[in-house]
This record gives sequence, C-alpha cells and structure tokens, in this order.
Amino acid sequence: MNASNDELVTHAKLAFDQAKSPADLENAKALFLGKTGRITELMKGLSALSVEEKKAQGALINKLKQGIEEALQQRRLEMQAAELDRQLRAEALDVTLPGRSRHKGGLHPVSMTMERIEKVFASMGFEVAQGPEIETDWFNFTALNTPQNHPARSMHDTFYVEGGHLLRTHTSPMQIRHAVQHVKRHKSLIDQGLSMPEIRVIAPGRTYRVDSDATHSPMFHQCEGLWIGEQVSFKDLKVVFTNFCKMFFESEDLILRFRPSFFPFTEPSAEIDIQFPSGPLAGRWLEVAGSGQVHPNVVRNMGLDPERYIGFAFGMGPDRLTMLRYGVNDLRLFFDGDLRFLNQFQ
Ligand code: DAH
Repeated sequence: MNASNDELVTHAKLAFDQAKSPADLENAKALFLGKTGRITELMKGLSALSVEEKKAQGALINKLKQGIEEALQQRRLEMQAAELDRQLRAEALDVTLPGRSRHKGGLHPVSMTMERIEKVFASMGFEVAQGPEIETDWFNFTALNTPQNHPARSMHDTFYVEGGHLLRTHTSPMQIRHAVQHVKRHKSLIDQGLSMPEIRVIAPGRTYRVDSDATHSPMFHQCEGLWIGEQVSFKDLKVVFTNFCKMFFESEDLILRFRPSFFPFTEPSAEIDIQFPSGPLAGRWLEVAGSGQVHPNVVRNMGLDPERYIGFAFGMGPDRLTMLRYGVNDLRLFFDGDLRFLNQFQ
C-alpha cells in the first residue's frame, strides 16, 4: 500500500464507526495500530528504501498514524458521550411527579397531658420521679397501710407475676420509694434533729389492673403527688390542686369539691371533683383524683417521725384528664393506635 494514500485513514474511520462497543473498537484499533496492523506493516516496508525515501515515507506514515489515532480518539469520546446519555436517560427523574409526603410524628394525647401535668407542678416547685412498674407487695400495699385482707390484693384486681411480684396497681408506691431516698439523702440532718428539706414530688407512669371496659383499661396511667414537711396542711392540698386544675384546663372559673372518702394510706381522705362553668360538661361533678393527709403509718414507713412530719398526697388519672380536656368518651381509643383518631391531636 502506498503510505500517502489517505484511504487508510478513511478505512480506519469507517471501521471505528462500525464498532458498537469499546471492545469492538479495541479490535478495530488493532487492525490499524496493532503489532501486526497496517501502520506497522508500512513501517516494515521502510527498510527496503533509501535514506531519502525513508524520510519522506516515514513522515507520511506518521501523518497517517496521527490521522488514525485522532479518528480513534474521536470515536472513543463519541462512545463515552453516548454511554453517559444512556445512563442519564435510565436514571432520569420525573420532577413533575407530585411528591410523596412523609408522615410527621407527634406526641400521643396522653403524653401531652403528662407533659402538661409535669409543667404545671414544676411551676409549683415539684420534682418528677420515676419508678418500677413491677413492684413488691411491700411498696404497693403493706407500706401504704393496706391490710392483708384488702380487696385490692385479690387476684381479681391485681396482676401477679412470678417471684411474688405484681404489676403496680397505682403510682402510690412511689410515695414510699421517693421518700425513703429523700430521707437517706438527708440522713445526717435528720439524725441531728434538724429539719430536712420538704418532699415535693410527682410520679407519673403506667399502672395495671384486671379491668377492661369503655372507661377502664388493664394498662392505664396515674400521676401521684406528695408533699411532706413540718407545716404542710390540708389547706395546702386544696390550694395546690385547685391551682393545678385551673392551669391544666385553662379555666379560672372551674370549681372544685373535696368529697370525704376512704383510702388506707390517707386520713382524712377526699375524692376531688371538678365542675366546668360552661361547655359541654358544664354543671356535672367530675371525679379527677383521690387525695388525703398522709396516714401516720405511711409517714413512719417513709422513715420519718409522724409526730414531726405531715403532709398530703394525691393520685390522679392522666387518661381521664385527657378525656375531659378533649371530650373523648371511650378510653380504649387512646390505646388502639388508630391514626385516624391520634392524628386529630397533632
Ligand atoms: N392510689 C389511689 C388509687 O389508685 C389514688 C390515691 C388516693 C392516691 C389518695 C393518693 C391518695 O395519693 O392520697 O385509687
């Protein structure tokens, strides 16, 4: 072949164009630029030529080689562009599609009530304590002055678990647990006959009873309150609980009634009822808590001298408070986990 013949470049271009893949292209390249390719062949032919001719031919072969290399490079770029184009098309996003919204989480209405209770009591100087849901007979009953034959102790009302433990039937055991810790912390003051700082605490949490209907669930919530000091009276209970109700329900005109009742761990005891001046529940007495002056036996079980320390306790149901606040009439709705119900509180 005559090296001056540009046809070689045209042939190479054609072969490169026909290559459908990078592998094809490499094969085509070998035909022209490889060890046994056309350019090498031409180079070999140079040895038979004179020096002058070698120079001229050599320059021409180099030009051809360059032309082929350019054609190869061009085809490579073309293939890369085509591949990129293919990829982009395959991964294309349709930005005109409507978006898929994500569910926004939120607090359960009873959790919102718990937070609200904590906030209001914190504003009156109460701290928050947490305790175990699996309790001993001592903390749940005996320490709270509840006699051995009390009906609350029957299998009928209480979930007993292995090892003589039970699921706490109320948050009242936290009165003892918290007070005992408090007394331990201030032991040196007490031992010296000095005054210890007052106990002022609430203890919200889950409680359990063998019970299930529209207003009772086997798992429910309670929030205990306890204030123990040397000068704490029933009057303080009335002030604290009245303030709480007014703040919780955001109603200054709310009225409260302390109705005589009985609890083993308080003496005297009172059930607390509230009445809204207006709205759908107006004019009805609604029970919201049990309360009373802490029984001397209970004060003793806290590790304190009932002749010196006195106070009050109360226990309320955050589930019921939530029902009253939002006008929900079936407690079970709170625990079914139906988003159509729960979303309404967000
Ligand atoms: N623990 C009682 C219950 O579950 C509620 C209660 C009543 C708590 C009077 C108290 C209290 O602290 O003083 O029914």
